[in-house]
Amino acid sequence: MNTIKSYIKDNKERFLNELIELLKIPSVSADSAYKKEVLLTADFVLESLKKAGCDNVEICETPGYPIIYGEKIIDKNLPTILVYGHYDVQPADPIELWTSPPFEPVIKKTAIHPEGAIFARGACDDKGQMYMHVKAMEYMTSSGNLPCNVKFMIEGEEEVGSESLAWFVPRNKEKLANDVILISDTGMIANDIPSITTGLRGLSYVEVEVTGPNRDLHSGLYGGAVANPINILTKMIASLTDEDNHITIPGFYDNVEELSTEERAEMAKAPFSLENYKKALDIDEVYGEKGYSTNERNAIRPTLDVNGIWGGYTGEGAKTVIASKAFAKISMRLVPNQDWKDITQLFKNHFESIAPKSVTVVVRPHHGGQGYVTPTDNIAYQAASKAYETSFGKTPIPQRSGGSIPIVSLFEKELKSKTILMGFGLDSDAIHSPNEHFGVWNYLKGIETIPYFYKYFTELSK
Ligand code: BES
Ligand code: MN
Ligand code: MN
Repeated sequence: MNTIKSYIKDNKERFLNELIELLKIPSVSADSAYKKEVLLTADFVLESLKKAGCDNVEICETPGYPIIYGEKIIDKNLPTILVYGHYDVQPADPIELWTSPPFEPVIKKTAIHPEGAIFARGACDDKGQMYMHVKAMEYMTSSGNLPCNVKFMIEGEEEVGSESLAWFVPRNKEKLANDVILISDTGMIANDIPSITTGLRGLSYVEVEVTGPNRDLHSGLYGGAVANPINILTKMIASLTDEDNHITIPGFYDNVEELSTEERAEMAKAPFSLENYKKALDIDEVYGEKGYSTNERNAIRPTLDVNGIWGGYTGEGAKTVIASKAFAKISMRLVPNQDWKDITQLFKNHFESIAPKSVTVVVRPHHGGQGYVTPTDNIAYQAASKAYETSFGKTPIPQRSGGSIPIVSLFEKELKSKTILMGFGLDSDAIHSPNEHFGVWNYLKGIETIPYFYKYFTELSK
């Protein structure tokens, strides 16, 4: 019987080349200019699932971008794993900061990836990680090593809030019925320190608009006498956190899950070098909520960040103007027990209440979602842990992540199943940033580890 290791060795070049072809298609879901390419990517995924041995592979139409479904049901009495991933990617801009074009993938060596990494938008998030599952499936079906039933559900709107998937899931509960959901769309600590993501933060994303005078004004004739919406907006934003970097929105912390001293001590055991962290980002000091460590700040504590701010004149040279309007996009990362809709409402009430009478404020909620915590005391986690032990030769560390995959909590609500997050990316892979990449080693290690999860999960289910 062909082992996974030798199968990877024999097919490595092809695995890389296929992923490179997938990465060439710019499936940017946020920008409607790429609509054709997003749909082409859906077709690519469809074909790849067919080739990997899935049955009933189909394009499921939705009000937005399609969802690709495929399955292999070998025995109704065996467990079923539902694999989720996304084929859409973030916009590539600022494009001038890429060292090679974002949709012309190249393999380059880096300090952390001496065996090379594929540089392209979506390499790690999530095309590369999603495609590991397709290749692992190919191995299992072609070598007679598929131990259980599999369903694939690959969507094209994750980077814009998974609206169509939230529409699709409740309408297809039977079709999607499963014993566990498996996702590779997160990261791990380091290549020699495997970890399993046990938590995701929730998200509330809003846009605010502050309007002062009804038109842009001469800043000499009117300056000092009327409210400048940009000045006002920046003051309002500054007041949302205090000197300890606590968020000042009344009620914001009411439901925040506080970790026990023991849990925090357990977290602090995860290997982490603050020096290397600062060095990698070229910063002299970290910054954040008083009383918490860096890893706590970015995983178990809620945050508020401005993602974009604009208004007035930003072109070349100077223009003396008081703008009529100022805008900002603001995201809040949430932790377990904080309800994203409640938080959005709290933000809206508070932001409107702190606006001076000289301006009007509109708060427009965008998408959001609940956080998620994966239990570690179940067979799914144990199977994942054993899978890493087999392929990495080390027990993985459970670790909460600061990122969000809001649809995971909806899966739990609608499908009543838990999700296992087996991510193989690294924080330094620059997802959402220029020069995103995914280690060749990580890609192949993912393909190697996944079939072991299937094996152990099936065994432990007996
Ligand atoms: N794959 C990421 C989320 C992620 C990355 C979680 C690394 C943990 C570690 C996902 O594609 C993503 O970017 N999610 C968005 C939220 C979404 C609603 C746009 C995020 O976290 O900003
Ligand atoms: Mn992702
Ligand atoms: Mn993403």
